[in-house]
Amino acid sequence: MILAIDQGTTSTRALMVSEDGEVTPLLGLPHKQHYPQAGWVEHDPLELLTNIEACIQAGADAGAVAVGLANQGESCLGWDARTGAPVGPVIVWQDMRTSDVTAKLAADGMADMVLHRAGLPLDPYFSATKLAWILANVPEAQKLAANGHLRLGTTDAWFRDRLTGRFETDVTTASRTSLMAIDCCTWDVDLCALFGVPMECLPRITPTTGMLGETYDLPLCASVTDQQAALYGHGGHAPGQAKITFGTGAFALAVTGPLVRTQGVLPTMGWQLEGAASVYALDGGVYAAASAVNWARGLGLFDSYSQIEQFEGRAIERGLAFVPALAGLACPHWDRSARGAWLGLGLDTEPADMMQALLEGVALRAGEVIAAMDTATKLSGPIAIDGGMTANPYFCQFLTDVLGRQTRRSDEAERTALGTAALAAHGMGLSISLPQVGEILSPQPLRDDVLDRFSQARNAVSAFGQIAPSG
Ligand code: G3P
Repeated sequence: MILAIDQGTTSTRALMVSEDGEVTPLLGLPHKQHYPQAGWVEHDPLELLTNIEACIQAGADAGAVAVGLANQGESCLGWDARTGAPVGPVIVWQDMRTSDVTAKLAADGMADMVLHRAGLPLDPYFSATKLAWILANVPEAQKLAANGHLRLGTTDAWFRDRLTGRFETDVTTASRTSLMAIDCCTWDVDLCALFGVPMECLPRITPTTGMLGETYDLPLCASVTDQQAALYGHGGHAPGQAKITFGTGAFALAVTGPLVRTQGVLPTMGWQLEGAASVYALDGGVYAAASAVNWARGLGLFDSYSQIEQFEGRAIERGLAFVPALAGLACPHWDRSARGAWLGLGLDTEPADMMQALLEGVALRAGEVIAAMDTATKLSGPIAIDGGMTANPYFCQFLTDVLGRQTRRSDEAERTALGTAALAAHGMGLSISLPQVGEILSPQPLRDDVLDRFSQARNAVSAFGQIAPSG
């Protein structure tokens, strides 16, 4: 049995995975979300670490032989190299405090250089400007840096430093920072200088799998970004195979094998198995998916999920659209100034109509991402879908119609854990079977104007974002 730890945006979970791919959840520990200012999102690093330790202990008690760790992609922090004490909170991937920094870098003409070197657009989503913010704004960080004691890194580097005593990050997470040269997988001197992140404060980059240290007498055999873990866990490892996970946000990844560069969609590291060639992927995110659904629930638009599983017709065909840009528009538009909106409201609009449009809006945004990916690398086979929102039959069928291709709704909800454990097994020289099973959905025709209508709604929120006060 391998223990997979899924340290995500809202919780930390321990799951045991057997050789034949059976997943048994052991423990799930939610953590607090802190919103100290508009656009800021923080986690308490010690709360996350305590939760991970509880998960490892539970796994050790349950007889795990090794650990794999999946982490949030871009969330990051600073800490004291001598004591491991954090200098402040984790700045979460959703946090937009550095929007002005990325806007200034773009205005200074740096976007092409960053895109070329890191493969990533200028966006506060990625870790580089967050890490630089820590150094620029936290006096303790400045003091430590002056004395050579500051460590800066994504959350995996912090966990690994504290749990194994090794200050290391894996290449998939490093590829989400904007500081790593995407073609050779090393920290890039010019990117570090541009963003103002001292290279000597950064961790060593390791492959995704291997003997990565020991914690609680268990070997850590894989460390990986959660979205990449889910891609691996879906079992499709050949170029063209893609997945979308509908969690807090919706994250699509498609395997390319070699590095593929394209407009709007991000080249990222899929995984690097120890001793093997790097496998690249394309990544595209929609920042708000289940978070939009939960937000609407908080507003009182519905009470129980069963209320939003069946609808008559399609809201967008009746002229009602929702653009889920609650935290800006990510792939392939990269417009952080955009905000969410319903368009086409009337005096007869009911909460159920608004929810139908909301679900459709998330699907339509995912459709934009997959269309951009398909242009860059021919996608093959059904798109694997997973995550909480895929429990909703209306959402899944509408999504399939929008994609215009088959989807496979995973009947294993824990693809991230499965992928993490399979990677850890690989790191031990073992293997875990990854069956590509799940219900296949086939697309039904969409009215011709649906995609155009949605583009118009999306353009409208972008245009409004340009004139509305930002921040
Ligand atoms: O890029 C952010 C992503 O890694 C977060 O995923 O599942 O923790 O919401 P999740």
